[in-house]
Amino acid sequence: MITTQQWHPSQAAPTAFTDRKSLMPIWGGQNIPENEWLSLWNEKVPYSLTQDALAYLHIPFCAGHCVFCGFYRNAWKESYSQIYTDKLISELANEAQLRRQSQGKIQAVYFGGGTPTALATEDLVRLIRACYQYLPLADDCEFTLEGRISHFDLEKAQACIDAGVNRISIGIQTFNSALRKRMGRKHSGEEAYTYLQQLCDLNAVIVADLIFGFPNQTDEVWANDIATASTLALSGLDIYAFNCYPFLPINRLIQKGTLPPPQPFAVQSQHYAYAVQQLLAKGWLQVSNNHFAYPDRRERNRYNTLVKSDISCLAFGSGAGGNFGGMSYQVQGDLQRYLETPSEQKALSFMSQHGQHKKLLSQTQYSLELGFLEPSLFADNPQAQDLLLEWQKQSLLRIEADKIYLNTSGRYWSPTLVRQLMMTLPND
Ligand SMILES: C[S@@+](CC[C@H](N)C(=O)[O-])C[C@H]1O[C@@H](n2cnc3c(N)ncnc32)[C@H](O)[C@@H]1O
Ligand code: SF4
Repeated sequence: MITTQQWHPSQAAPTAFTDRKSLMPIWGGQNIPENEWLSLWNEKVPYSLTQDALAYLHIPFCAGHCVFCGFYRNAWKESYSQIYTDKLISELANEAQLRRQSQGKIQAVYFGGGTPTALATEDLVRLIRACYQYLPLADDCEFTLEGRISHFDLEKAQACIDAGVNRISIGIQTFNSALRKRMGRKHSGEEAYTYLQQLCDLNAVIVADLIFGFPNQTDEVWANDIATASTLALSGLDIYAFNCYPFLPINRLIQKGTLPPPQPFAVQSQHYAYAVQQLLAKGWLQVSNNHFAYPDRRERNRYNTLVKSDISCLAFGSGAGGNFGGMSYQVQGDLQRYLETPSEQKALSFMSQHGQHKKLLSQTQYSLELGFLEPSLFADNPQAQDLLLEWQKQSLLRIEADKIYLNTSGRYWSPTLVRQLMMTLPND
């Protein structure tokens, strides 16, 4: 097996920047005072579907706290399943009543978490059916259920597909059993592999998430992760760079010396370049910076791509974030407060008015996610032009007459490119 270092390190531009951080979607917005939230909400909801949109439902529970993960919120208890599903369904039903001026269709629904697959089968089925009942889903709507192996056997998966899910995204992270154990994962790499093999036989688009840049994830471990994933009949594969946020439990293990530090950007960028090269060579298509689709296996990756654009996204469930009508909002992330909010009232915990550059931010994020940039977006901005020329010199991108194309190294660094481009804009 070749190692990632042996393969063409120049494609990785390993030291282009010292930081790799995304801009929050609410960047540049203006906070709305709390006393205005509900009236503004009620005023705007009737117009929230004048155009096509996405819907995101958040299920913020996990049976365990995986040490690497930035999404953990609440410990899972079986008793939450029914209560939380009832609350989500009432949130969907209430909003359906208010949404009167609707010509737009929901192009993609995403159940994200936490661990949506932790909900009991009957509750997941009720929730999926409620989406079909209360949301105007497009005929070809992509309907994704995110989850993990634990508490999600094939019968449960089949019941969700029968109810209307057509895409299942499973967090695998790595197939290396020792590393999985360290990261707090219950199943071995072999069990994860066999599980995915069986899942791929179901009539749905099956996607797996892998992470690169974990501590102890050597060239060999990563090369094996990519080789293993690509032998499965998956429709889609996500490869995410490990973000070692300061609040993650893994930092305690690193401080104690139980684990070495995570791989630096220099190694991460090489691991990224290696995965891109290997997957393309094996016939996969790169459909966004982090996502690969295998031809003719029906993968569209619609939600994950469109959510970076300026399309509206309706949000439901504790901790979910959405936007429409020129504002962004967050549903109450405190579980008890969410559950206790009267059913006829949206449980809001944040609202902001979009800033003047929001459309440009969405356009930039969306197109860089797809691997290019329209030159017209920053044509009248000399500072941005200088940056683009500098990045061309560093081989992060190629400026051509019609478009600016990201190289593989530019695709790895795209969160930083977006951030630096937006920082050139006047802030008034
Ligand atoms: C919302 S999480 C849900 C994962 C799912 N509950 C599971 O247990 O696999 C979705 C994906 O985010 C990615 N992720 C989580 N923490 C991350 C981090 N610190 N850096 C990069 N990606 C991360 C993982 O690949 C994960 O599968
Ligand atoms: S990886 Fe999944 S189960 Fe683990 S803490 Fe994150 S969201 Fe929860």
